[in-house]
This record gives sequence, structure tokens and C-alpha cells, in this order.
Amino acid sequence: MTQDQLKAIAAEHGTPVFIVDHEFIRQNYLSFKEHLPKVQAYYAVKANPAPEIVHTLYKVGASFDVASMPEFMLVYENIKHLPAKEQQDFIWDKIIYANTIKPIETLKALDRYKPLVTYDNIEELKKIQQHAPHSGLVLRLKVPNTGSMVELSSKFGCPPGEAVDLIDEAFKVGLDVEGLSFHVGSQCTNFENYIQALNLSANIMKESKDRGHEIKILDIGGGFPAAYDKNVKPIKTLARKLNAEINRLFPKEIQILAEPGRYIVATAAVAVSKIVGKAVRDEKTCYYINDGVYHTYSGVIFDHCKYPLKSFREGPTQICSVFGPTCDALDTISLAEELPDLEIGELLYSENIGAYSAASSTFFNGFPPAKVVHVNV
Ligand SMILES: Cc1ncc(COP(=O)(O)O)c(C=O)c1O
Repeated sequence: MTQDQLKAIAAEHGTPVFIVDHEFIRQNYLSFKEHLPKVQAYYAVKANPAPEIVHTLYKVGASFDVASMPEFMLVYENIKHLPAKEQQDFIWDKIIYANTIKPIETLKALDRYKPLVTYDNIEELKKIQQHAPHSGLVLRLKVPNTGSMVELSSKFGCPPGEAVDLIDEAFKVGLDVEGLSFHVGSQCTNFENYIQALNLSANIMKESKDRGHEIKILDIGGGFPAAYDKNVKPIKTLARKLNAEINRLFPKEIQILAEPGRYIVATAAVAVSKIVGKAVRDEKTCYYINDGVYHTYSGVIFDHCKYPLKSFREGPTQICSVFGPTCDALDTISLAEELPDLEIGELLYSENIGAYSAASSTFFNGFPPAKVVHVNV
């Protein structure tokens, strides 16, 4: 989006405003498909659950990774008009419930849809057997998350050494393990994580086959890095490695799934905010803007992500601090931003802020989340 377009949207809708360009969402989805043609892409709704985004991805044929019942219903909204049989086929073929820990109420609600669900421990297996016995199971493995921006392996995934027993256990109690899954950590720029995870998965599949259980699905999770800066290697480089390793390690008939979240939406949004205060503290200029880490910039805290701030004004820059509007000192977007000398009332913006940002915005301190504006829908 050009600076003029951003200014025009801010003038029309006010600030803070979170602008989602659906053309980028479609392009990102299509580039994922182009580079990984054998992989069925399940958009991880958690990255940005705006119903408009889910609908755009539904229209281009995406599948969906949901991690809660409300996320499931967001996707379901798009298929509720279909005849019952088509709804059921969509849920079977295009939705995975990829949270390994599910409340009993959720399992009960899910069971009638017979979806794919993940698990990674024996207690969850017992719950699924009791409350959602019609589900298809996917066992999530713990794999290296080395160097990824967001680490997930301390919370999820069964140790590879326990995997075959957990698969065996599921079949013993009458459940069907259809797949294996893993997540290499979000914004994974160390592609070796994927290679190790693929090799671990292939070994577990072989061992499982020897025990009489053939696994048909491999879910390679999320982690596909967004192009936040020029140092991030492109999806093309990762895809070349993944395609080669998948061809080498797995039979042709294997079904490959992925759960990209960040890659699909990160580059599709821009946040525009207004300077509401200015002070000089310890000889450094501090700008206070009307968006912050309790709002669109929540990824600074939860996602360990940085969103450089830009101004619409040219001129010599200096190192400044940028704070959010709330009374909490944690509401600090950056202590080292290169900005020109700006006045109260001027606008700032951050690009590539579509993932894990508006998704975790709050109403803290009486400030509501930024208005969301969708363009090129
Ligand atoms: C189970 C699961 N799948 C997919 C994703 C999406 O990952 P990413 O945004 O890195 O593609 C996440 C993110 O936390 C996840 O927990």
C-alpha cells in the first residue's frame, strides 16, 4: 500500500487503524501452494481470526487449522449453507483441530463432526476415546525448535521415543491414528529444524508400520517464515529442501498437510497510529501513540516480534522511544526507533503486522482495539 493510500484510510476511518489487504493474503496462499504443490495448506486461524480473512481463504480453496471451538465455528460459518453431506466432507477433508489439549466440552461438541484432532499424551487419548471416539487422530511429535522466533516444543509434542507406543495405545482402544504432526517453532529461519523433524517422522512411521499400523498423513505444521526483512530466506529455498526431503523419505501415496499462519497473513496488514504525546526523557525524544502492546502491537510481547515504525515525513532522524497509550510501562513498543522530529497529531505506521497482532489485542485501560479495515476483499 502506498503512503497516500494509508493516509487516506486513516483520514476516513480515524486511528488507530489496522488495514488488511486481501490481495496479499491471496498471493501468500498461492505462493505457498506454488512452491509446495503436494502440500495441503491449512490456514492456522489463530494467526489472525478476522472472519473476512477466513472467508477470503475459504474462497481460494484453503483448508483450516483451528485450535478452539470458536475458531472451528468461524470456519463453519462459511459452510453452514451447504447440504449436510458436503459440510461433513469439508470438515473431514479441510479442517484439523490442532490443539493437543482439548476441554471435554469441546471434544463432545466436536465428535459429531468427526474431525481430525491432534493428541500428544495418554490422558488426552483417554479423553478422546471417551468423548470424541469418531475423530481421526494425529499424533504430534516434539521436534527441535532451535532458533525459531517462537518456541513451542516445551509445551507440546510427545517425545519421539514414546510415539510408537502412543500410536499402539490408540489402536488398542479402538481409535484410528491417521497421521503424525510436528511444529518447528514459529518464524523458523533455521531450516534444519524441518529436516530433523521429517527424518524423525519417517523413522516413527517405519517403526509403526512394523507394528502393523500404517500412517497415511504427515502434517508438517507451521513455522514458515514471513519476509519481515531481507535476511529471511524466501519460501522457495525452504520449499526446495522440503520437497526433496519429503520425496526421499516418504512413500508417494503419503498425504502431506501444513498449518501456515504467519506466512499467510503477516505481510498483509499495516497498522497506522497517531502521536498523542511527546516528551524528552534522559535526552531522548519519547513519542506516545494511540496504539500499543496491549493492542495491535501485542506481538511485541507475545510473539517476540519487532515492528519498525515509520513516519510520513522525510528528514534527519534520531533515536527515539515509542510508547503505547496505557498507564503501564510495559506498554513500550520500542526504545530505539529512528524517526524524524515529529509533532503531536502526526501519524506513524508499521508494515508486516498481520500475524499475532490484532489477534491478541485487548481492551486494557479502556482503550479498545484498533478499527480493522479490509481492502481488496
Ligand atoms: C499447532 C499449530 N499449528 C500452526 C501454527 C501456526 O504457526 P505459524 O504461524 O508459525 O505458521 C501454530 C502456531 O502457534 C500452532 O500452534
